[in-house]
Amino acid sequence: MRRVVSSLLMAAVLAMPTAWPAPAAAAGHHRIGYDHYSLKIDGKRLYMWSGSFHYWRLPSPDLWLDVLEKMKAGGYNAVEIYFNWAYHSPRRGVYDFHGIRNVDRLLDMAAKVGIYVIARPGPYINAETDGGGLPAWLATEAGRPRSPAPDYTAAYRQWLRHIDPIIARHQLSNGTGTVILYQVENELWNHSPENHRYMRAIERQARADGITVPLMGNHNAGFQGGIGAVELPGYDSYPLGFDCSHPGRWKGFYAYHDERQALTKSPLFFPEYQGGAFDTWGGAGYAACRKLTGPAFERVFYESNIAAGSTMQNFYMTYGGSNWGWLASPGVYSSYDYGAAITEARRLTPKYAQQKLIGTLLASVPAIDKTDVFTTPAPDNTALQVVGRVNPDNGTRFYFLRHADVTSRSDEFTHLRVQVADAPGAATHALRIPQQAGSTLRIHGRDAKILLADYRFGRQYLVYSTSDWLTSVTADGRDIAVLYGRKGEAGETVLHVARRPQVHVLDGQVSSHWDAHLHSLRLDYRHGQLARVLVDGGRRPLLLLIGDNAVAERFWRVDTAHGPLLVRGAYLLRSARVTGDEIALRGDTTAPGPVEVFAPQGVHDLRWNGRAIATQATASHSLTASLPGPRPVTLPTLAHWRMHAGAPEIAPGFDDSRWRRTDLKHTGNPFWDGRLPILNADAYGFHHGNVWYRGRFTATGSERNLLLDAHTGIHDGNHGVLSVWLNGHWLGTRSGGERKFVIAPDQLKVGQDNVLSVLVSNMGHNQEGHSGDSQEPRGLTAATLTGALTPIRWRIQGARGGETPPNLVRGPMNNGGLYGERAGWSLPGYPDAHWASVKLPQKVATPGVVWYRTSATLDLPADQDLPVAVKISDTPDRHYRALIFVNGWQVGRYINDTGPQHVFPVPTGILDPRGRNSIAIAVWNTAERGGLGKVSLVAQGNTLTPLRVHLNDSPAFKLGSRRQP
Ligand code: GAL
Repeated sequence: MRRVVSSLLMAAVLAMPTAWPAPAAAAGHHRIGYDHYSLKIDGKRLYMWSGSFHYWRLPSPDLWLDVLEKMKAGGYNAVEIYFNWAYHSPRRGVYDFHGIRNVDRLLDMAAKVGIYVIARPGPYINAETDGGGLPAWLATEAGRPRSPAPDYTAAYRQWLRHIDPIIARHQLSNGTGTVILYQVENELWNHSPENHRYMRAIERQARADGITVPLMGNHNAGFQGGIGAVELPGYDSYPLGFDCSHPGRWKGFYAYHDERQALTKSPLFFPEYQGGAFDTWGGAGYAACRKLTGPAFERVFYESNIAAGSTMQNFYMTYGGSNWGWLASPGVYSSYDYGAAITEARRLTPKYAQQKLIGTLLASVPAIDKTDVFTTPAPDNTALQVVGRVNPDNGTRFYFLRHADVTSRSDEFTHLRVQVADAPGAATHALRIPQQAGSTLRIHGRDAKILLADYRFGRQYLVYSTSDWLTSVTADGRDIAVLYGRKGEAGETVLHVARRPQVHVLDGQVSSHWDAHLHSLRLDYRHGQLARVLVDGGRRPLLLLIGDNAVAERFWRVDTAHGPLLVRGAYLLRSARVTGDEIALRGDTTAPGPVEVFAPQGVHDLRWNGRAIATQATASHSLTASLPGPRPVTLPTLAHWRMHAGAPEIAPGFDDSRWRRTDLKHTGNPFWDGRLPILNADAYGFHHGNVWYRGRFTATGSERNLLLDAHTGIHDGNHGVLSVWLNGHWLGTRSGGERKFVIAPDQLKVGQDNVLSVLVSNMGHNQEGHSGDSQEPRGLTAATLTGALTPIRWRIQGARGGETPPNLVRGPMNNGGLYGERAGWSLPGYPDAHWASVKLPQKVATPGVVWYRTSATLDLPADQDLPVAVKISDTPDRHYRALIFVNGWQVGRYINDTGPQHVFPVPTGILDPRGRNSIAIAVWNTAERGGLGKVSLVAQGNTLTPLRVHLNDSPAFKLGSRRQP
C-alpha cells in the first residue's frame, strides 16, 4: 500500500527539481519576478543556466527530446529557442505547424523534461539563417523589414498572431508549461524613436496574444527605458569572435562592471554568450571552433561572468544542428554544429562535461543567486586576480581566481588572504590559504577556480576549500559532497565539526588535522583518482568524494521526488525515479561499465532502462552495478550507384514552353530600378535553391559578350556561382556579381533563334540589418548582349510550386529548381532502373548537372542510438558542388573545391535505421574537371539508449505524380 501511494505521489512530482519549481507538475499560476540579483520563480531565486537550441535545425521531433534531456542532465535549467518565421511560412498568409514544425510538441517536451524555455519568436532572429528568419516572400514587398512600413507591419503581426498563442499556451505563469521569458525582436542596434515604437508595437501584440511572462531583449541592453522598453534587457557577447582558424587565439575578458552597476532593476543577463562559433564556407571547420571555445574558455569566461555578478547566462549554441535544405544564410554551410557543447550528431563533448561541472555547482549552491562583491586582498602573485562575492543573507563567500590577463598561459602559484568564519555565525577573520606547509594555490595555464567559504550544506559547515565544489546531496542519512581539482594539484578542505570526529579514509590518500580549539577539521590531499572520506562526529555523517576533473565529470546530479540524487558513471543519465525500494534510471552507455548510485535509504534494487540489474552495496553506502553497452555495428558500403544526366535545359531544343515568362511589369522589391524585364527570382516565387533561366534572341552575328548581373548572396563573394551555355556551348562558370561571358562568333546562329541557358545558385537571403539587405534580389537582375543590343526574351524555372510546394512536409526550403528536383529524382521510390550503373569516384569532363542514386538497407539495433552521416571524400582539385538527399530530404550542400564540410549527419527519423534508405546526389559540375568522389556512410557514435525515434513522414515518388517538369 505504501508503495502505491508513494508512486502516485511521485508521478505527480516526477522530474521535480528541488532548486526551482517543477515545471511539468506545476499546475496553477506562477509568478516570474526578478530584482537586480536574479530571476525569481514564485519568490524563489534561480541561477538561469541556459543553452540555445533550434528545433528547425534538427528535423526529427523525437530527437528534440534527446537534446532537451541531454541539456537537463548536463546541468542546464533553461533552453533558449528561436522560432523561425520563414520556416513556418512559405507564402503570405500560410503558416505550418505540423510534423517537424510542431512547436506545441516541442514545448510539451520541454515541460516534460522539466526545463525552462526562453522563447524568441523574433520577428527577426538573425541566427545565420536565410533572411535572418524573415520569410523570403517579404522580398517581393516594398516595406523595409523591421520598419513601420504598413506591409511589413501587417506581415509580422500575422506571424505573431500564429506563434504567440502557441507560446502563450506553454507559459509557466499559466501553469501550463515552462516558458518563463519572451524576447522582443533581436539585436535591434539602432535605438531610434522609430525602433522604440516598433518594439512597443511587438510588445502590445504579444500581450494581446496572451503573453504574460516578462519581456526581455537581446539588444546590448538597449530599450532599458522609454517607449517599448523591455523588462529584462540583455547583452550578447562573443568575446573570441568567429575566426576559428587560430583556435589558440583568445581575446580579453570584458567584465561588464559598469553595466552591472547601471542595471538597478534587473540582473546582468546574457541572452547570448559565446557557446561556440559559426564557421563559413572554406572555413577552419567545427573541430577548430570547438577547440577555440573549449572547456578552458568555458571555465575562464563563464566563471568570470559569475564573478561579475551575472545570474542569467545563456550559451549560443549548446546544440547547433544542421542548415539542412536551404536554411543557411549566405556564408555559412550546411553544418551549424557551432563547435557547441553537444555536437551536430548529438554527441557529448568535453565542453558539455565542463558545462555540467559549473551548472551542477550553480544548481546546488543557491547562495550564488544573490551576491554582492566585496573587497578582498589581491593574491600574493599579481599575475593572478581574485574577485570576492558574498551572499548578504547567509554569508556564503565565493572567491573567483584566475589570471589577471585571461589570455595568459603561464603557470602561477599563490596564496590568498580570505575572510572566514570558523563556525556558523562566528565573526569572520582573515586567513592565508592554503594553510598546509609548502602548498600553494595554482592556476596552470588557462584556468579558473571558484572557491567556497562559510558555506552551510546539509547539516555541515564548510569553513573553506581550495578545491572546486561540485555539489552536495543528502542520501541515506548522510550528507555527501563532491569536490574536485586539477589532476595532481594539492587541495585542502576545512570543516567545522561540533566534536572531534572519526575520520575514515575509505579510498585514496587523505590526511586529517583536528584543531580542538577551533573545532575544525582540515583534510589535505592531492586531486587524482576518487578519494572517499567519511567524517563522523558532526550533526550528520559526511561522505566527502574528492577527485580530479575527470572524476567529477563522471557524476550526475539528477532530480527525483526524493530530492537530488547522485550517480556516478554512464555516458548519460537522463532521469531517475525512486519507487519503494527500487531506483529506475534511464540513460545511455557507450561501452559496458560500472555505475554507482548514492541511493536513498532502503533502496537496493536498480533498473536501468527498464531492466533489473544486479547491485552490490559498498562501504560508502552506495550501490554499484555493471551496465551493458551497445553492440558494434557495421554500416553497408555504398557500392551500387546509378547515374543520369541532369541538365536537359542546356540543350537548345529543350521544351521550356511551360516555364514562367519573366513578364512581370512591376515588383515591390525596393532594389528594383524600374527596368524591364524583371528577372529577380523572388519576384516569381522562386525563393530557395538553384534557378534556371533560358533566354532566346535572334542573333545578328555581332554579339560579342553576354553581361549578366547575378545575385547569389551577400557581396556575392560567398561561393554562389552561375554557369552559362549558349546553344549548348558552355560559356563558363563565374561567381555571382556583374559578370562578362565572351561569345565566340561560331557559337551564334545568325538570323536564327539562339538559346541561353543559365543556372544560378542562391546561397540564401542576406540577414537583415536596417537597410533591407534581406530583400536583395536573387538570381539575375540584368542581362545584356554587347556588340549588338539584341533583346533577349527570358523564361525562369525554380522549385516546383514556388511558394506553393507540392507538399509542406519537407517544406519550401528543401528543394530548388534543378530538373531532377522538379521531376522527383530526389525522392525515395523514384524508378531509376533505367539509369546507367556507375562506380564512385567518377570523373566528369562536361560542365552541367549529373544525378547519382543508390540505396542503403540498414538493420541497426532498436535500442541503440547510432547517428549516421553521409561522407564525401575527394581532393579539392575537382570543381563541383553537390546536393545530398536522403529519403528526399536535402541534408547537405557540398562544394568540393571550397569545403570544409565532408560529413553530413542524417538525423534518425529522416534516416530509417531499420529499412531501405534512398540516397540521391545532384552534382553541378562547374568546370571541365568535375565528377563525384567516394561516398560512404559513417557512424558518428554508438550508444545503448532508451531513446526511441519515430520515422518522419517522407513522401515518396508516385508514378504519375510528376509531370514532365
Ligand atoms: C548574435 C545573433 C544570433 C547569431 C549570433 C552569431 O548576435 O543574435 O542570432 O547570429 O550572433 O552566431
